[in-house]
Amino acid sequence: MSSLKRQIKTEVKKMRSIEMQKLRSYEDKKMRRNSTSQPLNLLTSEIPASQPRNLSTSIFDISSPYISRLAKIERVARLTEKERLFTIAFEDKKTLGHSPGQFIMLSIPGYGEAPISVSSTPNKRNTFELCVRAVGNLTNALHNLTKGDRLWIRGPYGKGFPVEELKGKDLLFIAGGIGLVPMRSLIKTVLSERPSYGKIKLLYGVKSPDEILFKDELSEWQQTASMNVSITIDKPYPEWKGNTGVVTTLLPPLKIDETKTVVIVVGPPVMYKYVIMSLGDKRIAGHDIYLSLERRMKCGLGKCGHCQINSIYVCQEGPVFRLSDIRYLREAI
Ligand SMILES: Cc1cc2nc3c(=O)[nH]c(=O)nc-3n(C[C@H](O)[C@H](O)[C@H](O)COP(=O)(O)OP(=O)(O)OC[C@H]3O[C@@H](n4cnc5c(N)ncnc54)[C@H](O)[C@@H]3O)c2cc1C
Ligand code: FES
Repeated sequence: MSSLKRQIKTEVKKMRSIEMQKLRSYEDKKMRRNSTSQPLNLLTSEIPASQPRNLSTSIFDISSPYISRLAKIERVARLTEKERLFTIAFEDKKTLGHSPGQFIMLSIPGYGEAPISVSSTPNKRNTFELCVRAVGNLTNALHNLTKGDRLWIRGPYGKGFPVEELKGKDLLFIAGGIGLVPMRSLIKTVLSERPSYGKIKLLYGVKSPDEILFKDELSEWQQTASMNVSITIDKPYPEWKGNTGVVTTLLPPLKIDETKTVVIVVGPPVMYKYVIMSLGDKRIAGHDIYLSLERRMKCGLGKCGHCQINSIYVCQEGPVFRLSDIRYLREAI
């Protein structure tokens, strides 16, 4: 190559380099002008370790129902061998904004995501409670977390209990096992306005005494809230002096005014059929019975079809349904 050619090539390289520098400086200025948050590449690699990396709030619109929000565990209480009660707060201090009977999708990166009912009342401003049974991947991972650990929450989703419609009525709650979890949100909401409701009864069935959830609250409700609580365990147990037999065995002796009683039922799928039959004997109409259905869920907001029963999506139109609305769906109960 002649020396002239080499000189020209070097000059062209220099000019290109100057042009690139100008362009970069222009792009930098433009980004700083337009952006109130950090540029994307800074979020992952260049923020000093001491600064929190607030991925959720910097780049995404956190008001979207599709997006999980970062939350922190404030407290963990062991309720039974398998169930723990988690008190949770969002990092941005916002409220969950749920109504009783709704659920959220909880995820821990690397372990998956699952629907969990909200167990606290909407009255709690900055925290909410989830009672979780350890059964698999995600729920066991959650049980290994402790105060201060972080997880992701999206929601609340679904339709809950018709709190306003229940006012002025006698209420009969029938819970089986972990079904007391979503019901607790409604019971506590109702008890916070106790004079607005008539007589309140709770029938609660569990397999054995050590599976009874919220023991202290059950006796508090019985003693102070003029609410009648009956607990039964499936089979006789050495130190158990209370009722034995499945939850439906508590129904026949009950005096119910069928003209003003609304029944709320939450429990394992097998329970519903028998409870509904017993309520039929008490002449309670299908439009006065509400149940919460549990189905496999993935998206939680009507997109994936995993929770479909015939023509309905449980995650969207439920999980709480009026019996008269689903009674004739073949796969519902
Ligand atoms: C609307 C709704 C509300 C729920 N609320 C609560 C709650 O408040 N507290 C709580 O502890 N659980 C609740 N669940 C159940 C909870 O979502 C499952 O236990 C959870 O998905 C299990 O996830 P995992 O990764 O730990 O278990 P996996 O590893 O996915 O599975 C463990 C075992 O459980 C079975 N399983 C998983 N999910 C379900 C399901 N939905 N139905 C039947 N079997 C299943 C699997 O087949 C497997 O045998 C709720 C479910 C729904 C649909
Ligand atoms: S869970 Fe996806 S549609 Fe209901």
